[in-house]
Amino acid sequence: LANGLAATPPMGWNSWNHFGCFIDEKMIRETADALVSTGLAKLGYKFVNIDDCWAEISRDEKGSLVPKNSTFPSGIKALADYVHSKGLKLGIYSDAGYFTCSKKMPGSLGHEEHDAKTFASWGIDYLKYDNCNNDGSKPTVRYPVMTRALMNAGRPIFFSLCEWGDMHPALWGASMGNSWRTTNDIADNWDSMISRADQNEVYAEYARPGGWNDPDMLEVGNGGMTKDEYIIHFSLWAISKAPLLVGCDVRNVTKETMEIIANKEVIGVNQDKLGVQGKKVRMEGDLEVWAGPLSGYRVAVVLLNRGPQQHREMIARWDDIGIPPGTTVMARDLWQHKTLKQRFVDVLTATVDSHACKMFILKPIS
Ligand code: DGJ
Repeated sequence: LANGLAATPPMGWNSWNHFGCFIDEKMIRETADALVSTGLAKLGYKFVNIDDCWAEISRDEKGSLVPKNSTFPSGIKALADYVHSKGLKLGIYSDAGYFTCSKKMPGSLGHEEHDAKTFASWGIDYLKYDNCNNDGSKPTVRYPVMTRALMNAGRPIFFSLCEWGDMHPALWGASMGNSWRTTNDIADNWDSMISRADQNEVYAEYARPGGWNDPDMLEVGNGGMTKDEYIIHFSLWAISKAPLLVGCDVRNVTKETMEIIANKEVIGVNQDKLGVQGKKVRMEGDLEVWAGPLSGYRVAVVLLNRGPQQHREMIARWDDIGIPPGTTVMARDLWQHKTLKQRFVDVLTATVDSHACKMFILKPIS
């Protein structure tokens, strides 16, 4: 969407994956504090996004959404002021239907202008727009009504289309939003995570600065996968130019989780200014090579072993990843944080364990 936002994929935090409907203003404020104190904010995690369940079930007499009195007594404007005072941005959630998915609050269908103005008046910077409990009309009819309402609201608001991929939003999302979900909801386990990466990959050609494919939010730190699997999760989201929306409790984040989500070099791949989504360039059984171009003639590569066997030898071929034959390359290992001493011509080989990956930036030197 040409609203001047999302030159690179959005980064931040969202309440849903860890907290579901158990959210309140104190927890949101503490999360904003934690993003700053852990250093995550400095790395780019700027959005603090409130998901479903923040509003009362009824609108007020003027037709406005009302923050839930028992959990958000100070209101959303006060929260936005607080979050902004920390140098962060506040995101909120609504739905292109009569009720949101939780059915605990109203949706914005038929109230788009009014709600967009309300969000803007509160200082909202990001709107996630869900698709539950609608009138059965096409999302391509309902979503642009909110797009236009946001354009008229007088404040730049990142617009996240949450249609879950059923109607192939990659094909139409670019004119309506800054990101579009290509998949159903992620869960905190290997099968769910890897299948979302696969489904999202199909639409690689449609991602570009201003509009990104969204395979759903991060589960890193929620406990359902091994460390190597979370490294795969983060590596694939990064190379896929997916939104990096942390979904764990950052107030109690472990060192292990920080090693993953605070990996500057992997974040750098995601935020590279070229903005081209990486894709699978070779699949051989359980072994996959994912690659995508970066600025400065560099290439990001993920060597992924999805199978049960340890110590698989994998090969990144220049032919596959788009480097001219005969080119000598320097390789940076983004998880070891080491530039390899060896120089590589035409291929790079590495050993990759079961449910693990290696991630490199290859830089031509001649
Ligand atoms: C469905 C969305 O896909 C989720 O990310 C989350 O927003 C829930 N709805 C909230 O009800």
